[in-house]
Amino acid sequence: MNVTDVSILRRLNEAGSPLDLSALAEDVHMSQGTLTERLAELARCGFQFSYDKSEVELAGLPDLLVPEAIAALLGVERELGTEILVLRETKSTNDYAARLGMGGSRHGTVVFAIRQTEGRGRLGRTWYSSSPEGLWFSLLLRPVEPVARWPRLALAAGLGIARATERLVSRPVSIKWPNDVMIDQRKLAGILLESRVQEDEGFVVLGIGINVNSVVFPEEIAGIATSLKLVKRRTFQMNRVAADMLSGLESAIRLYREDFDALLEECAQRDILIGSHVEIRSGTEIFAGQAMQLGSHGGLVVRSADGKKQEILYGEATLRNHMPVVL
Ligand code: BTN
Repeated sequence: MNVTDVSILRRLNEAGSPLDLSALAEDVHMSQGTLTERLAELARCGFQFSYDKSEVELAGLPDLLVPEAIAALLGVERELGTEILVLRETKSTNDYAARLGMGGSRHGTVVFAIRQTEGRGRLGRTWYSSSPEGLWFSLLLRPVEPVARWPRLALAAGLGIARATERLVSRPVSIKWPNDVMIDQRKLAGILLESRVQEDEGFVVLGIGINVNSVVFPEEIAGIATSLKLVKRRTFQMNRVAADMLSGLESAIRLYREDFDALLEECAQRDILIGSHVEIRSGTEIFAGQAMQLGSHGGLVVRSADGKKQEILYGEATLRNHMPVVL
C-alpha cells in the first residue's frame, strides 16, 4: 500500500469538491510535478480525476478493489485495515490470513481476494466465491481477551456487517444465529471464525463473505441467497462497500470489548430465530424447541418441549414455523 497515494486520495475524497493542485501538493509534502505523476499513475489503476484549470477533483474509484482506495475511505486512526492486501486470486483468504498470522503480521491486517478458488463456509461447507462480485475477506485479529471469549467475535462481526448493511440499503437487516446476515429472510453474508492458539497466545481469523453485486447464484443457494444489488437494484462501488464494512466491524468489535451484554441484546433483537420454533443440528445431535434468547456465551438458548432450557453453542438452525411463540 502506497501511503502517499492514500494521503492524496483521502484529501480529495474528504474535500468532496475540486482542490487547488499547488495547495494539495503542499499538503502532501511533494512538488506539483510529483503530484501530477502520482495522479497519472493512480488514473492508470482505475481512479478517475476531473481537472479544471489548476484544480483537481476525485471523480470515480476503480471498479475492482484497490488497497489505496479502501484505506483512503477509512479514518487515519483506525484499528482495522492498518495493513490492507488485495489478492487477485487465492484458495481462501482465511488460509492466507492464517499464514500471515503465523508469520507475525499485525492485528488489524485485512486480506481481500477478488476471487477464491476454495472458499470455505461454516460446518465444512463450500463458499461460492469465484466471482469478483462479492467481498471475500479475512481479518487478522490478536485479541487481548482470554481465549474462551474469542468465539464471541463472530457475533460482533455479524452485528458489524448487519449495521453497515442497514446504512447502505436503508432497510432492516437481520441476523440468523450464530452470524448469518439476512435481508428478507435471504442470506446476504456469512462469517467463518477460525483461531490458532499456542500457550494462551495466538490469533483469530475472521473470514467474511458478502454478496455485493451478484445477481445469479449457483443452483444450491439460488433460493436462499441475496445480494446488495438484488435488494437495491443498483450496482455498488466495491471499495466503498469494503470501507463501510470495515468501519461497521470496527465499531462492533469495540462494543464486544466494552459492553458485551449490549452487543448480545442488539444481536437478539435482530435475530430471526428468537421467539420461534427451531431445530438445531449441532454435530451429531439435533435439538428442537423454542429459541428464547442468546446466552452469555453467545449460544442460542432453546426451551425444549419438557420445559428444559439449554444454551446451544454452535450448529445450524432451521425455523420449524414462522409462528412467534410467547416467551
Ligand atoms: C458461512 O456462512 O458459512 C461462512 C462463510 C464465510 C466465507 C468467507 S469468504 C472469505 C473467507 N474465506 C473463506 O474461505 N471463507 C470466508
